[in-house]
Amino acid sequence: MTRQKWSSRTIFILAAVGSAVGLGNVWRFPYLAGKYGGGAFLVPYAIALIAVGIPLLMLEFAVGQKMQQGAIASYKKLHPAFSALGIFAVFSAFIIVSYYAVVMAWSLLYLLASFRLGWSEDASAFFYGEVLQISENINTIGGINWPVFIALLLVWIAIYFCVWKGTKSVGNVVAYTVPLPVILMAILLIRGITLPGFLNGWQFYLIPNWQQLINPEVWTAAFSQIFFTLSLAFGTMIAYGSYKNSDDDIVADTWTTALLNSGISLFSGFVVFAVLGYLATIKDTPVPELAASGPGLAFIIFPEALSQMPLAPIFSLLFFIMLLTLGIDSAFSLVEAINAGILDLRSDWDLAKVSLFVCSFGFIAGIIYTTKAGLYFLDIADRFVLNYNGLLTGIFQAILVGWIYGAEKMRRYINEVSDRPVGKWWNIAIKYLIPIVLTALLATQLTRDLTSPYGQYPAWALSLGWACVIVPLTICAALLLKNWQKLRRRSPQTF
Ligand code: TRP
Repeated sequence: MTRQKWSSRTIFILAAVGSAVGLGNVWRFPYLAGKYGGGAFLVPYAIALIAVGIPLLMLEFAVGQKMQQGAIASYKKLHPAFSALGIFAVFSAFIIVSYYAVVMAWSLLYLLASFRLGWSEDASAFFYGEVLQISENINTIGGINWPVFIALLLVWIAIYFCVWKGTKSVGNVVAYTVPLPVILMAILLIRGITLPGFLNGWQFYLIPNWQQLINPEVWTAAFSQIFFTLSLAFGTMIAYGSYKNSDDDIVADTWTTALLNSGISLFSGFVVFAVLGYLATIKDTPVPELAASGPGLAFIIFPEALSQMPLAPIFSLLFFIMLLTLGIDSAFSLVEAINAGILDLRSDWDLAKVSLFVCSFGFIAGIIYTTKAGLYFLDIADRFVLNYNGLLTGIFQAILVGWIYGAEKMRRYINEVSDRPVGKWWNIAIKYLIPIVLTALLATQLTRDLTSPYGQYPAWALSLGWACVIVPLTICAALLLKNWQKLRRRSPQTF
């Protein structure tokens, strides 16, 4: 059976950019920039992009493209014991997509509520009370919230039809869902700058505060944002790379994907802060007090601002279509990573059936987030899996390619197929810089979580978060060691 391929280079770039550009570009990047020094934040951001983001993205594209397989089978080809690392990555991808889809389900409910501007009285009460019907705390699960449940089902049906024919259906979808949100952003930008106060927002976003650069927190924020925004370490970019031809250019595609992603982040900051500047002006509140990240920005602050402007229902509708189309490419790229992971092990299985199986399970796993305590669970899963599992996979894949397979060997392949070669600095980034930087991030976070436990959650709830990290980690580490020893016994001379 021949492996499925992208129909063109543009489609591949669109798919990769679609995975990278997600909610994080809109609700995380602008907030970090505003909070950590305005324009000055771009310095650590650009350094992180070049030192960690580009080399790791290049590594993932190269691994997928050279091995022509998804994460599990590719790592196995790099070293037979390392299929375990792929299993860890793919399992983590599954947990992430199961809650990412729930955020999209909320967006869908907001899209429907746009017609009547359901939140215009009190945006915060609308989000927590009406949409989430949130329980008092995580101890009260409170049963299923049916509207979210049904919206989640619809989201999963949409995801299924994006991936069921693999690169063919993904290719058709990304041709629309990647440019569309950018166009919608441009429309919202024009709306924003025709309202009073947008310059206040831009000031907060852009005026550099250079002193922030001596704050270590700014640097860890920049490095984690880069790691997060490029969708690294969950097998997605490996899977996407594996659908390219084995002699396609890697260096150029890496730079194109990364620069488009950062460009869209920067651009969305202009949109977010124009609208926040407007809200600050009409509420007579300073912009920093309104600047928010995550669901608070997308589902409370931004809707509130939208409801104040002329033609509010139309712009609300556009905003939530934008969120949905931004999110869906990231969501199905995670499903693609899982599909590729499974199909490379069982090549006689049918793609549409595997997709149906993965999507059904993704939906079932997401049911916990549709309960009235759903937001609490989502917050914990996001915090632990995205950070710990991502960083751990990132560290080990850099070690695997850099030290076990050989950075120079991989670089030679990259340069054979690319027009413009990548220099020796890539080896240094993969072998030294990335393991060191990601370990430092991991250590910072671990110290923080151990000294002051995350959020105000009871111990049982936090243990669930830890379990999502430790259980798969232990199983995969045991598998790796077992395979390693088996190999050593079989052919001791190669060790
Ligand atoms: N890059 C996505 C965003 O900015 C989020 C994300 C992080 C992601 N890791 C991922 C998406 C892995 C897909 C796969 O919103």
